[in-house]
Amino acid sequence: MGSLNLSLRTRVLVVAALLILALIAYQSPYSSSILPFKTLPSPADQQYDYSQYVNPFMGSEGAMPGLAFGGGQIFVGGAVPFGVVKAGIDTYETDQRHATINGGYTPHGLVTGVSMMHESGTGGPPKYGIISQMPLATLDGVNVLDNRTYWQQRVGHDVASVGYFSTKLENGVGIQLAGARHSAIFQYNFPAADRHVLVDVSHYLPMETSSLGKGQYYDGGEIQLKAGGRVYTGWGSYGGGFSQSAPMTTYFCGEFERSPSEARTFRGRNTDPVKAQHTWANADPSEATFGKSMQDSGPMNDRVGALFTWKGSNSSPIRSRVGISMISVEKACAFKDHEIKSWALNVTVQAAVEEWNTDVFSKIQVPVDESRNRTDIVLLYSSLYFMHLMPSDRRNENPLWPSTDSWDDFYALWDTFRCTVSLYHLIQPVYYASMIRSLIDIWKWDGFMPDARSGNYNGLVQGGSNADNVLADAYIKGLPGVNWTEAYQAMLKDATVVPYNQYNPTDLTGDIQQGRGALEDWIRFGFIGVDVHSRSISRTVEYSLNDYSLAVLAKGLGYEDQDLWVRRSAQWQNLWAHDLEHKGFKGFLAPRFRNGTFRDLENYNPAVCHPNCGWPGLTYEGTPFEYSFTVPHDMQTLIQFMGGANEFERRLDYIFTPKSAEQNLGGNGLGIDTIMNIGNEPDFGTPFEYHYINKQHKSVERSRTLANQYFHDADYGVPGNSDAGALNSWLIWVMIGLYPVVTQTVYLIGSPWFSELNMTLGERKMLTIKANNLDNHEHFYVQSVKVNGQPWERNWLEHDDVMANGGTIEFEMGKTKRRWETGEVPPSPGHLILDNV
Ligand SMILES: *[C@@H]1O[C@H](CO)[C@@H](O)[C@H](O)[C@H]1NC(C)=O
Ligand SMILES: *[C@@H]1O[C@H](CO)[C@@H](O)[C@H](O)[C@H]1NC(C)=O
Ligand SMILES: *[C@@H]1O[C@H](CO)[C@@H](O)[C@H](O)[C@H]1NC(C)=O
Ligand SMILES: *[C@@H]1O[C@H](CO)[C@@H](O)[C@H](O)[C@H]1NC(C)=O
Ligand SMILES: *[C@@H]1O[C@H](CO)[C@@H](O)[C@H](O)[C@H]1NC(C)=O
Ligand SMILES: *[C@@H]1O[C@H](CO)[C@@H](O)[C@H](O)[C@H]1NC(C)=O
Repeated sequence: MGSLNLSLRTRVLVVAALLILALIAYQSPYSSSILPFKTLPSPADQQYDYSQYVNPFMGSEGAMPGLAFGGGQIFVGGAVPFGVVKAGIDTYETDQRHATINGGYTPHGLVTGVSMMHESGTGGPPKYGIISQMPLATLDGVNVLDNRTYWQQRVGHDVASVGYFSTKLENGVGIQLAGARHSAIFQYNFPAADRHVLVDVSHYLPMETSSLGKGQYYDGGEIQLKAGGRVYTGWGSYGGGFSQSAPMTTYFCGEFERSPSEARTFRGRNTDPVKAQHTWANADPSEATFGKSMQDSGPMNDRVGALFTWKGSNSSPIRSRVGISMISVEKACAFKDHEIKSWALNVTVQAAVEEWNTDVFSKIQVPVDESRNRTDIVLLYSSLYFMHLMPSDRRNENPLWPSTDSWDDFYALWDTFRCTVSLYHLIQPVYYASMIRSLIDIWKWDGFMPDARSGNYNGLVQGGSNADNVLADAYIKGLPGVNWTEAYQAMLKDATVVPYNQYNPTDLTGDIQQGRGALEDWIRFGFIGVDVHSRSISRTVEYSLNDYSLAVLAKGLGYEDQDLWVRRSAQWQNLWAHDLEHKGFKGFLAPRFRNGTFRDLENYNPAVCHPNCGWPGLTYEGTPFEYSFTVPHDMQTLIQFMGGANEFERRLDYIFTPKSAEQNLGGNGLGIDTIMNIGNEPDFGTPFEYHYINKQHKSVERSRTLANQYFHDADYGVPGNSDAGALNSWLIWVMIGLYPVVTQTVYLIGSPWFSELNMTLGERKMLTIKANNLDNHEHFYVQSVKVNGQPWERNWLEHDDVMANGGTIEFEMGKTKRRWETGEVPPSPGHLILDNV
């Protein structure tokens, strides 16, 4: 007996020890199951060339063939993830009414140069297109100060792949380029021995004539020739553009592979129209004077540049490498030397491809064997590409204050707070924490966090102070590496201090550079008065979520003011006109005067914008009808206000009905005739709101239909400006089969497009999503779900379930629309009904 007892005890001990070991070895993401620890994909997988699936032209064209107008307005060219340099061509559109050139690239525009810096997917007045070169096959008739004398049509087809771009000009010059982080390499193949390169320091992407004054301007520069003209260095200063920024100085350092036969600097007067500059008024472009090895713009901000010529009997290519820096010429030269070591273009291309594969594409792996639908794979990896072009990684390149974390081109958080940053959180936590530290730094040194920022300058604010939402989303999901005490201080500034009105002509009623321009009303009246402020409805809705974001941090950090923020987060209810009817639906957001009277409800139509969906409107880039769905923190009250679950469902169904749109969205909504408009961000979360009445299958139907209808592996591949990749990130979430609810730990469960998907979370964790019996044509409705091996009854997950430590989600798919979920609906953590409404 004794010995038996002992051995039993021993066995128990051994089993217990094994279990403990197993628990240590196999980290359990979910308490009731033990799963193998998900490791990084093997190095071999990281080497896999996912970049071959990227279509860099997806979004380059709009509904009008040949024009970027109404399309993605994307950058096309050579870049690394979040690269400072996005090297590509700049174009000019002679059709000024449809001249959208925000990314530099347009399908048929006239080439005016190739330049180092671009935005991707943005609207409004263009920014950048600076530090340029232009290869010229002849100097006959060329006035270096007048691009009309040398601009070029293109012939043949442009070619682009990750890191690489090439085109051919009608004069026979072939342009090839590749981008590195702060530098680029250019190669020009000339048709004959007459070879020239023009460097125009005063070159930038102009605004179309209708909006001059808001466009960019050149604020002076300098250029110096060295080594007999083989090297040129200097700086240029440029202000204006979307952020209406102060001038920002960019230093450059260019080097040609071969010494030119001749190199000359030039200088010439600026001519109208250039805002707030000394110009030669009412004059055609002047003629340049040439000479000297150094030229500066002097007191009149003269245009400066240089012209390089290679003579001889051969027509071998002219290669150059160019570095840029926000700090100094020395840094610009060092970047060029370190980042581009070879004159062979493909070396730089290959380095970019490897960086994209390792840092971006391999983070989400799907089966890519021949039997798979290539289109879906292209859509996934192209979308990942476009959501990693912005913001720009200016770490250690901040000219304004000492800091290692410095990011620019948040353009705009209004676009990316909704679902883009939540994906950065999962697959780019290191970059993302640095971005957030940089937002907080901007508050410390500039006074406010940006909603948008470009050219190291805050502006413009389209709605609320949405950096608040970004911080809350990162905080509640436990992003490491951020000082949350400081984060909260930065948010507090947004919520309590009215930004000084700079009387921007775009909106004189309150500041639009930073902070919350209508905060005074928000605090005094509990809503934004239509008698004083523009965008009173959309900003009321956005300030509500901003204040909910403060509540999230206040609660987590144990501050006493959390009740105040929850109360203020419910203030959207003050604009709810309960009795207002439209198309058989009752209760909408409506304009209200400061004195509490609603404005002319008799003649108010919530399905149109009054007077347009822009800066002076009641709502921005969406109608009040659409904004009436955007209260993610308290869907419970919203559904109640709309008349309960059935009425809510009927209203959701209505906005997807063809021809339901009453507002003409112009270039911002080409081809969309439903109230639901996936081309603009306010509606991003709306297709998933069926989850809140436990009808997940309808969210699946709606989101898949939108994705299939509006996103294509084609030039006209996204429905409107990609907005720094915001549209692309929406598609990625749909394809993954989840959708994040911003500022909450919640992910709504969708319907994945791939039978298997591995997502690398942070450094070493992995989420695996499996979809059994999936067929994207027919079998895409969810029949049942298992999370970490356990049957799952709710149509949503929490961050800790599968993201914090990795995990698995396993779907059974089928043809039948099934109401498979039986658990609680997704939460309304800010639930509160105000007394007076
Ligand atoms: C090129 O010329 C056009 C027409 O004069 C002018 O509007 C534009 O600013 C110039 N520069 C660029 C880079 O397009
Ligand atoms: C670049 O091209 C050359 C010539 O075709 C080739 O020898 C070399 O291996 C290529 N390098 C890379 C990094 O692809
Ligand atoms: C996902 O990861 C698992 C485990 O490492 C592996 O067996 C599977 O092939 C991966 N799937 C894909 C699509 O990469
Ligand atoms: C591949 O997917 C696309 C988009 O999802 C779809 O339009 C196309 O019909 C699919 N092709 C095949 C062969 O299934
Ligand atoms: C966070 O910031 C606060 C305020 O600047 C500072 O007092 C505190 O030491 C910081 N905490 C850490 C861990 O750096
Ligand atoms: C409220 O203000 C509006 C606009 O100034 C005015 O037309 C209206 O008569 C006022 N209502 C009351 C009750 O004072």
